[in-house]
Amino acid sequence: MEQNSIVTISGLIKRFPIGKGHFTALNGIDLTFSKGQFAGVVGPSGSGKTTLLNIIGSLDNPTEGKANVLGQEIGNLSTKKAALLRRKHLGFIFQTYNLLPVYTVFENVEFPLLLLNMSGSERKKAVMDSLDWVGIADKVKSRPAQLSGGECQRVAIARAMVKKPELVLADEPTANLDSENSHHILQTMENLNKDLQTTFIFATHDDKVIKYLKRKILLEDGKVTADDIITN
Ligand SMILES: Nc1ncnc2c1ncn2[C@@H]1O[C@H](COP(=O)(O)OP(=O)(O)O)[C@@H](O)[C@H]1O
Ligand SMILES: [Mg+2]
Repeated sequence: MEQNSIVTISGLIKRFPIGKGHFTALNGIDLTFSKGQFAGVVGPSGSGKTTLLNIIGSLDNPTEGKANVLGQEIGNLSTKKAALLRRKHLGFIFQTYNLLPVYTVFENVEFPLLLLNMSGSERKKAVMDSLDWVGIADKVKSRPAQLSGGECQRVAIARAMVKKPELVLADEPTANLDSENSHHILQTMENLNKDLQTTFIFATHDDKVIKYLKRKILLEDGKVTADDIITN
């Protein structure tokens, strides 16, 4: 494995069974992501972006080929090992925020830490730091229903970042946001990438996200058709 590479994918194929046959969602992917990248998988709806992110996130397994994430071979992980990889090292941001409605902002962000071995005061500091990063510490006692979409997504980013994961996977994070909120959360993630060296991989077809990317991987019909480093 190349030094500094945190994700190495080779010959990755993903087929989903449908009826008596199957549908090939990923059709031979070779990709390496290095530490600190701010990269995006872009391409039209149905091109396989979510399928790829789900495999990198150990939420799904390859049909053929390999996906090595932080030194672990995704296809070989037990359910328990996969859960441990996600819990300790990965952060997820989804288009629908996936906040727990009955919990406060504080409790939502604290949630991933309850599974780690931390004291209450350590958790409190980590949660408040994380809410400060995303600029929403004043809403700590609110519940998701009392927040706007942009605020909910900021809470979701705080939740993804609270354990300082090596890798954050963000699937269409701006799909439900207006352009002002989209820029705000992209700037927040860009700052976290710079300050903490957190690696980000987005799946998106939103131009507002695409213009922030430092690396743009074009996926079409389950194949990588372009892979560009953006210098500006
Ligand atoms: N569980 C599944 N079973 C069958 N087909 C699926 C499944 N998940 C995704 N697909 C198909 O794989 C293709 C790629 O889907 P997806 O990765 O969600 O694309 P994207 O995120 O780029 O819109 C789509 O045609 C989708 O219908
Ligand atoms: Mg998708």
